[in-house]
Amino acid sequence: EKGTYPHYMLKEMDEQPGVVRKIIQQYTNDAGELIVDEAILTALKNADRLYIIAAGTSYHAGLVGKQYFEKLACIPVEVHISSEFGYNIPLLSEKPLFIFISQSGETADSRQVLVKVKKMGHPTLTITNVAGSTLSREADYTLLLHAGPEIAVASTKAYIAQLAVLAIAAYVTGKSKGNQIDFDLKTELAIAANAIQSIVDSKEELHKISKEYLETTRNAFFIGRNIDYYVSLEGALKLKEISYIQAEGFAGGELKHGTIALIEKGTPVFALVTQEPVALNIRGNVKEVVTRGANACVISMEGLDEHDDRLVIPKVHQLLTPMVSVVPLQFISYYAALDRGCDVDKPRNLAKSVTVE
Ligand code: M6R
Repeated sequence: EKGTYPHYMLKEMDEQPGVVRKIIQQYTNDAGELIVDEAILTALKNADRLYIIAAGTSYHAGLVGKQYFEKLACIPVEVHISSEFGYNIPLLSEKPLFIFISQSGETADSRQVLVKVKKMGHPTLTITNVAGSTLSREADYTLLLHAGPEIAVASTKAYIAQLAVLAIAAYVTGKSKGNQIDFDLKTELAIAANAIQSIVDSKEELHKISKEYLETTRNAFFIGRNIDYYVSLEGALKLKEISYIQAEGFAGGELKHGTIALIEKGTPVFALVTQEPVALNIRGNVKEVVTRGANACVISMEGLDEHDDRLVIPKVHQLLTPMVSVVPLQFISYYAALDRGCDVDKPRNLAKSVTVE
């Protein structure tokens, strides 16, 4: 129930810090260590390559998940859009493990891939919010998101939950393989939960930012590099699906290869600066668009901030920044939709679970 909230989306965004804390709890054993089910751990360790299959926001979580598994567990990963995979199956490795990420567990595009790869005899794991959903029942293994029901069409807390569960699975696998990992994920996730809370608490400011940059615009751009690029894709999806503002997310370095032609006076550009190694490069991109008249909104992380950044998010571990930097983008989209009188929870032409291919 949405209680006193005007929209499920607002309620679900507010729930995000609690979701991260709940996941930490659910994936911690009596000794206080992060764990995943033994059988799943074995399946992950036996795989020579992971194939992540998903759609929409879940696909965007998968892109971040690739970094987690490659950096922490040292397992190569491919991430595929489920609707494309079926007729374009890449050359598979010898011991693949297929991971389906789906909030609903009902996405038909993902299910047709599951059916196909099961027939080929490959092991399958579903990461879903819904126990007993089709994708969960039909896969060999399931990891649950524990995000509680997500009702708004725009996925918010499920994305955060997907990132947390992917991080835990990759971390536990890496630890169990004896990989060198120099941080404590449990502590870092708790820090991230607090950081998310502080953004949730600043929603009035986020409403202001939304008005400042999006009140009259017909289009908007989101840029980032490395892991910030994946978050910019998610920011753009959120904005377009609920506010109907045409939005595009792309890698900062790609600007000069075409998109910069679209920048004119007043074009809003949201730039994410959370990754130290590429901070200067993305700031360079910001300069390029500002020179061409863009209205740039820089969202940076503490420690990488400069005096005229529009929003500074609290410092979190370099791999966990997406869980935090996506939150202002969700709120900015929410307020843009609200101010335009859009049906926030039920945007036109969209369904919560897409059960047709
Ligand atoms: O239930 P799923 O995670 O499989 O759904 C996938 C997409 O349909 C979903 O993420 C969609 O893109 C959302 N409306 C995005 O907010």
